[in-house]
Amino acid sequence: MSAGGLEGVVVADTRLSDVDGEQGRLIVAGYEIEALTGIATFEDVCSLLWDGKLPGAADCERLRAALGAARVRAFARIGSLGDALEATDGMDALRGCIAQLPSGEEDPVSLTAAVGVFAAAWGRQHAGRALVAPDASAGHAADVLRMIRGDAAPAACASGLEAYLVTVVDHGMNASTFTARVVASTGSDAVSAVTAAIGALKGPLHGGAPGPVLDMLDAIGVPERASEWLSERLAAGQRIMGMGHRIYRVRDPRALVLEKAVERLESAGIHSGRLALARAVEHAAEGVLKARHPDRPLHANVEFYTAVLLDTVGVPRELFSSMFAASRVVGWCAHVAEQRATGRLIRPGARYVGPRP
Ligand code: COA
Repeated sequence: MSAGGLEGVVVADTRLSDVDGEQGRLIVAGYEIEALTGIATFEDVCSLLWDGKLPGAADCERLRAALGAARVRAFARIGSLGDALEATDGMDALRGCIAQLPSGEEDPVSLTAAVGVFAAAWGRQHAGRALVAPDASAGHAADVLRMIRGDAAPAACASGLEAYLVTVVDHGMNASTFTARVVASTGSDAVSAVTAAIGALKGPLHGGAPGPVLDMLDAIGVPERASEWLSERLAAGQRIMGMGHRIYRVRDPRALVLEKAVERLESAGIHSGRLALARAVEHAAEGVLKARHPDRPLHANVEFYTAVLLDTVGVPRELFSSMFAASRVVGWCAHVAEQRATGRLIRPGARYVGPRP
């Protein structure tokens, strides 16, 4: 097999998260992801990853205030970002905006706040609507949702986005995290590491899948069409978005966490309109993939129910990848710090297969 995918290669010791692909378990800094999503706020998981423990009430309040103040600073910077927000793709915009932060704004709080603010600002601008200023006193998840939607969303929607942001905060040595660590390993700054990580996350094989998942659900429309539609795509050599994973050989545990978050929203009277369809399409996709790849277990990954959840809370699909970044930036920052503290320059080798003189 080609060495290109680095499967099974260990590149770092980390205290941040552990992915067990055979059992379908994800541990984030000592907590099962299922337990964390039930109890933790976004600020809690920031503390967990940056300081190694869940915060007490006073520390949580301090972090909430620091993130609020940093959102205000980031929003004030928007006027000086030139045409970065004009990009037609949200991740291009985010990459361009974050790249312009001075290295003095490279602490985790500033970077995390900035990703949420710039993502929301691009969403508003792209929709031709007025930007919404942050509310420094609000929790980060609720405020990001308010800046996106332009209204104070129902509390259940803010909780839904919070559940998402908590669930995807870190995930082992995924491509964007590895990218951030490679940049940090050279001694470069965290703004550069996060900018590079955004570029890696943008790709459809990593964080670019949930928008296409929603497109797929819309195109299929009714459960009865799922198998035929999916089979046609496979026959045309296309991949089914939201299915398959490099590490998991069973269903991604985050799929269940996010599916339950959608159920909670439905119980609170906020209907997705797509949950039954998504379940039917997942089931059909498992069937057609099993028939095509009997030896390769291919199940739903995190992106499948991300699409349904984010749509239900009122995030437009153009912002799905940016919301992924708004969470994963927390993990990137933690990995940058860990790499600086414990790592060496990452510089693997390559097997030369070209001609020799
Ligand atoms: N749809 C159709 N076929 C898929 C597939 C999918 N979603 N995922 C994997 N496969 C097939 C591949 O075509 C390949 O078949 P082949 O051996 O006949 O060429 C086989 O399964 C193994 O795939 P491979 O590309 O080696 O696996 P990987 O570990 O590199 O890929 C992903 C992991 C996530 C990139 C892959 O499953 C994928 O592209 N999924 C869709 C995109 C997505 O949802 N991304 C978000 C990930 S969280």
